[in-house]
Amino acid sequence: MTGQSKNLAEMQESLSKMEGSQRSFTNMVILLASFGMLALTIWLYAKGEMGFEGILTCTIAMMGSFGPVVALSSLSNNLNQTLASGERVLSLLEETPLVEEIPGDVETSADQGVNSEESADRADRAFAGAEAENVTFAYGAETILDSYSMKLQPGKITGIHGASGSGKSTLLKLLMRFWDVQGGSMSVDGTDVRKIPTRHLRDMESYVTQETHLFHDSIANNIAIAKPGASREEIMEAAKKASIHDFIMTLPKGYDTEVGELGDTLSGGEKQRIGIARAFLHDCPLILLDEPTSNLDSLNEGIILRSLKESARKKTVVLVSHRVSTMNVADMVYEMENGRIS
Ligand SMILES: Nc1ncnc2c1ncn2[C@@H]1O[C@H](COP(=O)(O)OP(=O)(O)O)[C@@H](O)[C@H]1O
Ligand SMILES: [Mg+2]
Repeated sequence: MTGQSKNLAEMQESLSKMEGSQRSFTNMVILLASFGMLALTIWLYAKGEMGFEGILTCTIAMMGSFGPVVALSSLSNNLNQTLASGERVLSLLEETPLVEEIPGDVETSADQGVNSEESADRADRAFAGAEAENVTFAYGAETILDSYSMKLQPGKITGIHGASGSGKSTLLKLLMRFWDVQGGSMSVDGTDVRKIPTRHLRDMESYVTQETHLFHDSIANNIAIAKPGASREEIMEAAKKASIHDFIMTLPKGYDTEVGELGDTLSGGEKQRIGIARAFLHDCPLILLDEPTSNLDSLNEGIILRSLKESARKKTVVLVSHRVSTMNVADMVYEMENGRIS
């Protein structure tokens, strides 16, 4: 990836160098031609074959006519680039996702109309957890999960422990339905994920990835993307649970500090805790945490795991980690070894 970026930068540099030399060459030719014209007209004037106004007309016409011509010729350069860029944007837009979205709306108790009774029913009934049944999954030829089964009990913290590369992240991605399973089934809240409307599935799950991505916005808004319209109190509450509140208060503008202003000064652990704050803010029954403590010291790890334990009374939590200390808060632990339970 870095190699490709470097290559691109080098190519762009040589392209602009080429354009630059081309432009200076054209300008030089125009300048020489203009002087040539001036000399020619003066020579003709001296011979008496041309009047003074002839010199003026010719030289001015010569100089004046080249501007637009040059602009027109560089237009083709710019136009080529514009068209190529446009093509790339369009090809991105035309990409088809690996997993097809299931349309349909989310049934919430706020919904009105025909569905209101059914949604009230759903709101009353407790979240039913999630389950993997004989799941088989491969990226291409490499089988990652081989007839894997696992149950996520509602209201419990389920730990998944295993070495790096054993397929833990893959399992979470299958729960999110980033890919479809090749065998068996993955179900959330009692329904196969292939039958749940995508928006509803996203609303049920909070996924904290191994790498938290921050947007160029304030810290508060970065946390609030988990719940649009969240109040400042809610955001602070989530940040406290994620053990990042005290750090945010030390920043010059607190919660209104722009992430961009901080440059790269946020550590991996701080970003990770912002990601966890998002998960606490997103009010959903199923929380998927992928190595949430990998960049944290034991103090912050302790605080976060305690908050998790408290909020887990109402939620179903999957805690993926290769650390044994993190597994201590889990109610049950699955050991993962090359996609098999052991
Ligand atoms: N998008 C992908 N395409 C191909 N192979 C992948 C992809 N993601 C992960 N893998 C491979 O799948 C295996 C399991 O990865 P992962 O689920 O991330 O393991 P873990 O989270 O336990 O470290 C690894 O060997 C990894 O190289
Ligand atoms: Mg992983």
